[in-house]
Amino acid sequence: MPRLQTLAVHAGTRQPTPDYHPVVPPLNSSVAYTYDAMVDLDAVFADQAEGYVYARYGNPTVAAFEQAAAALEGTSAGVAYASGMAALHAALLAAGVRSGAAVVCAADIYGATYALLSRLLAEFGIQSIFVDINDMRTVRETVASLKPAAVLVETISNPLLKVADIPTLAEVAHAADAQLLVDNTFATPYLCQPLAWGADMVIHSATKYLAGHGDVMAGVVLCSPELVQKLRENQKLLGANLAPEPAWLAHRGLRTFWVRVREQFANAERVADWLVARDDIVQVHYPGLLTHHQHELARRLFGERGFGGMLSFELRDAGRDQVFGFMDELQLVLSATTLGDVFSLVLYPAHSSHRSMPAEMRAALGISEGLVRMSTGIEASEDIIADLAQALDKTRA
Ligand SMILES: Cc1ncc(COP(=O)(O)O)c(C=O)c1O
Repeated sequence: MPRLQTLAVHAGTRQPTPDYHPVVPPLNSSVAYTYDAMVDLDAVFADQAEGYVYARYGNPTVAAFEQAAAALEGTSAGVAYASGMAALHAALLAAGVRSGAAVVCAADIYGATYALLSRLLAEFGIQSIFVDINDMRTVRETVASLKPAAVLVETISNPLLKVADIPTLAEVAHAADAQLLVDNTFATPYLCQPLAWGADMVIHSATKYLAGHGDVMAGVVLCSPELVQKLRENQKLLGANLAPEPAWLAHRGLRTFWVRVREQFANAERVADWLVARDDIVQVHYPGLLTHHQHELARRLFGERGFGGMLSFELRDAGRDQVFGFMDELQLVLSATTLGDVFSLVLYPAHSSHRSMPAEMRAALGISEGLVRMSTGIEASEDIIADLAQALDKTRA
């Protein structure tokens, strides 16, 4: 019988594999895996047998989340990361973005994605050109002349809610041997599966709608089983892995994804319609509005499923002080730097999501000092609207 000191370490561990199945995937936080025979471990190392050897190479809890996210995006392969930014970086590297290569990116893009390309990757000799993704002529000319390794867009853009014509962009990218990478964080697979429209990789900040409760930071890249090999290889070396605990939480969140986003998206439509009717709001950006420039495109890509849970709007004659005043008056809607949660949230792009974008570029894109971005939660739409109304009324007074 081993001594107590030894039992303290080993007792209860390495239980034989049971012949029952837990209904909910268990949280498996083991870093390493042991086998009855060394040859079995060797076979897993050599990819000749299924299994796990070391958590940076793969983990069952993370794999369960990857499978679920991949299924929602209509594929069977994906790799999860510690954040959406880590996922974006991994997708760019796997697409062949290297020193001397170019990236054509939508100008209307999340601020940190802009900074990753324009600052960090620029230091590695990667050239990024930012284009208006709805100006298809310029996109075609830029992609054809630059021959980039990747074209990167958001299905629905942050924060101006522009919609990308994914099938046409896929054709343009592929004609130049570039991969089309689509950040589907705002649209989610509820509205659109970019891989089915020809994209090569789909990226999510799973921190947002996929996990959905504001308590997990995670990212995921979904793609074909062929492309996933490169992501896995790089993951083993770069190690921006999603840990088992947040993977487990994200997977739990994913199980209610469909019902959450259905409510959130319906609430956004109601809030957008209500905002349009107010005379203290100059402009409402929401693809569901008939006045939105890509409303028809959104209908074509999203079918009858809706237009998302994100909108942005501009307060009339307002600068930063008035917008801050409005945000401070909100009682139910939270002023916080995230989106896609069950709570309704507002954010001021000029000082948070797009802080790292130069002020001139923000102004040129239309990210004005009066712009507020909103993510609708699952509260009753009447309560969300009442809160917006009282805060707007006080701001006007
Ligand atoms: C559209 C979009 N993509 C990517 C990211 C980055 O995700 P994360 O914060 O999980 O790194 C964000 C974050 O807000 C985002 O809005």
